[in-house]
Amino acid sequence: MIILGESMEFQDTILRSVEQHPVPYLVKLKGLDYVMFPETFNPNYAKASLFLLDNLGVQDGDVVLDPFTGSGADAIFAVREGASRAVAIDKFTMPYLCARYNVHRLGLEDRVDVRQGDLFDVLTEDERFNLVIANPPFKAMQPHSDIAAALRDEEYATLHRFFSEVGKYLTDDGRIRMVFSDVGDMDLLQDLAKNHGFLPEVVNQTKYASSVRIEVYEMRREK
Ligand SMILES: C[S@@+](CC[C@H](N)C(=O)[O-])C[C@H]1O[C@@H](n2cnc3c(N)ncnc32)[C@H](O)[C@@H]1O
Repeated sequence: MIILGESMEFQDTILRSVEQHPVPYLVKLKGLDYVMFPETFNPNYAKASLFLLDNLGVQDGDVVLDPFTGSGADAIFAVREGASRAVAIDKFTMPYLCARYNVHRLGLEDRVDVRQGDLFDVLTEDERFNLVIANPPFKAMQPHSDIAAALRDEEYATLHRFFSEVGKYLTDDGRIRMVFSDVGDMDLLQDLAKNHGFLPEVVNQTKYASSVRIEVYEMRREK
């Protein structure tokens, strides 16, 4: 079981790693040349992000929503793995610009639509997706900066909102792929999913530094 001091140390390490970059920089992301922007969550710094990227569960033709897109990686890899198109959303300017830049660089503008906004605010009433890929902030804590909001969600307001509204944008047989870890409250996550009519099934799990548990869930509507 992870203790509070340890989880803060892990989060501070990720924040310091991101904050050391004042200008855009080139990385390899799963072998792909990728440009990270300042104040943008770099999946290479977080095992949970890489683990989700390895477990996107994309099926040919999926229409994907990535409402916590950061650098845009989940949406971009989803279309590279066979999704027909994706909408990628982030609340903050630097991740939004980073995702747009990489979509442009990779020639995917006709398939990945990047929007800036708070969760589902930038969707129209009639948009529907059959795969929602979600890497939300894990910890119930007030963020002190835009980049800290990648990791911290005050009183889990964003997580609550995600589950109360996601069903509206999912097709009847749509599914959610979500990563979470015991840096946050995994029991609450599963309860929220069930309370909103979804069945959370663990499709893969791993550990970080021998004590942090990371799980990828697939969630479908209970029949
Ligand atoms: C843990 S990071 C994941 C980023 C990316 N999917 C990845 O795996 O590298 C969470 C992202 O969600 C964004 N975010 C946090 N709250 C949000 C909200 N209410 N609406 C949209 N994006 C939000 C953060 O800015 C951050 O980029």
